[in-house]
Amino acid sequence: MSEVAIHAEGLTKWFGEGEARTVAVRNVQLDVLKGEVTYIIGPSGSGKTTLLSMMSGILRPNEGKVVLNGVDLWRLAEDRIADMRLNTIGFVFQDYHLFPRLTTAENVAVPLILRRQPWKSAIAEAKRCLEIVGLGNRVELRPNKLSGGEQQRVAIARAIASAPDILILDEPTASLDGDTGRKIIEFVRKDVLSAERCILIVTHDERIFSYADRIVKMADGAIVGVDKGEFRA
Ligand SMILES: Nc1ncnc2c1ncn2[C@@H]1O[C@H](COP(=O)(O)OP(=O)(O)OP(=O)(O)O)[C@@H](O)[C@H]1O
Ligand SMILES: [Mg+2]
Repeated sequence: MSEVAIHAEGLTKWFGEGEARTVAVRNVQLDVLKGEVTYIIGPSGSGKTTLLSMMSGILRPNEGKVVLNGVDLWRLAEDRIADMRLNTIGFVFQDYHLFPRLTTAENVAVPLILRRQPWKSAIAEAKRCLEIVGLGNRVELRPNKLSGGEQQRVAIARAIASAPDILILDEPTASLDGDTGRKIIEFVRKDVLSAERCILIVTHDERIFSYADRIVKMADGAIVGVDKGEFRA
C-alpha cells in the first residue's frame, strides 16, 4: 500500500452568509497517495481550486481537516502553516501569480531564496528549470513581456525548482499548445514524481488525461467518483 501524502476529511468551505451563502466544497473525503499523479476534474465552479487551496494551506476550511505528511495542517499556527507550504508544497496557480517586477529567473528563484539557498546557486537552479520548460532564452525578461503560455511555464518552473514533496498544479496546460503541455506533464511524471512524492493536477485538458494514476471527479462541491487513470491500467 502506498502512503498517504494528503488526507482530507469532511472538508467543507462556504463563502458569504445567509441568503448569499455559496457552498464551494462540501464534505470532501480524499486520500492523495505518494507515488501517484492524481487528477481532479469537474465543471467550472465545481470547487476544484477551493479544494486544492484548503489542502495546501492557502485557504482555511469552515469544517473538516487536512492531514499533510502526517501533520494536522489547520491546527498549526499561521507561521508553521506558511513553513509547511514553503517546505513541502509547490503550487502552480491558475492565474500564475508571478511577481511583476522580477525577471523570470528571479521569479523561479524566489522559493529557493526563501529557503535560504545562496542567490547565485538559486539563480543557476532557476535557469536550469526554465530550460526544462523551454524558456532558457527568456530568463532576463519580466512577466509582462511574456505570453500567457510562457507565464504559465515560468510558474511551473518555479514550482518544480524547490523539488517539493507535493506538487499541485491548477490547470497547468490551459494556455499551452498540445505538444508543450504533454512534454511538461511527461517531465513532471518522469523527473518530479517518485515513491516519496505526489502530484495533484486540476485539469480540463483531455490531451493529458492519459498521464493520471487516479482521476477524482467533482460536481457541485462534492466528489462524485474516483477512477483509475490510464497510466496504471
Ligand atoms: N473567494 C470567493 N468568494 C466567494 N465565492 C467564491 C470564492 N472562491 C470561490 N467561490 C465560489 O465557489 C465555487 C467554486 O469555485 P472554484 O474556484 O473552487 O471552482 P473551480 O472548480 O476551480 O472552477 P474553474 O474550473 O472555473 O476554475 C464557485 O461557485 C465560486 O463562485
Ligand atoms: Mg479553478
